[in-house]
Amino acid sequence: MKNSFFMSIEGPDGAGKTTLINLLLPHLEEKLGDDLVSTREPGGVRISEKIRDLVLGVEYPEMDGRTEALLFAAARSQHLVEVILPALKENKFVLSDRFVDSSIAYQGAGRELGVKEVADINKFATRNIEPDFTIYLDIPSEIGIQRIMANRTDEVNRLDKDALNFHIKVRSAYLKLAEDNPTRIFTLDATKTPEVLTQEALELINKQLEKGDYL
Ligand SMILES: Nc1ncnc2c1ncn2[C@@H]1O[C@H](COP(=O)(O)OP(=O)(O)O)[C@@H](O)[C@H]1O
Ligand SMILES: [Mg+2]
Repeated sequence: MKNSFFMSIEGPDGAGKTTLINLLLPHLEEKLGDDLVSTREPGGVRISEKIRDLVLGVEYPEMDGRTEALLFAAARSQHLVEVILPALKENKFVLSDRFVDSSIAYQGAGRELGVKEVADINKFATRNIEPDFTIYLDIPSEIGIQRIMANRTDEVNRLDKDALNFHIKVRSAYLKLAEDNPTRIFTLDATKTPEVLTQEALELINKQLEKGDYL
């Protein structure tokens, strides 16, 4: 009997999540075929997209931090109900680019709203549903920032100190999450090449699939 499988990929901006997922997808497709569901918040869900526009839009500088955290949780709830839960019900393999850990790291630690507080509102939003397995891409903040800056088209001549401090807080929160959840979160060194990371991630995924009787 096959079970559903829910995995997330986490890490700060610039860690290489999208790059890794794009490299993993052909391997996973070959292995899983139609059982593979790859998604990312807001997942193309209408309500979640609207909320996303509201949260990320530059026209709302008055947005309160808690309002922002609640809106992210609301968008996550809708994406979960419309995309993730139906797929899990059909025993699919769901791979999500970010999930609750991102909110804990970004809103809880980065914006200093409180890790426990942000975890609590997300427990409500997700009905306590957690990924079965999470790969966390760990990257020294200076390198993460450099990768983001290298991609920016606007002129950036110096390392933005605020961005670096924020990144450091986010990374510390991720490291603590990994330490506190050793059976769910597996850390990979994101300074390795994308090819090496792909092989390491595939090994971890295969082990998890065997353990959980997925295939
Ligand atoms: N393992 C890696 N080594 C070096 N550079 C990488 C690696 N993975 C991604 N990059 C580069 O870093 C930048 C951010 O990668 P991306 O996958 O968009 O990160 P994320 O989705 O985590 O924000 C991109 O320019 C990408 O080409
Ligand atoms: Mg990305």
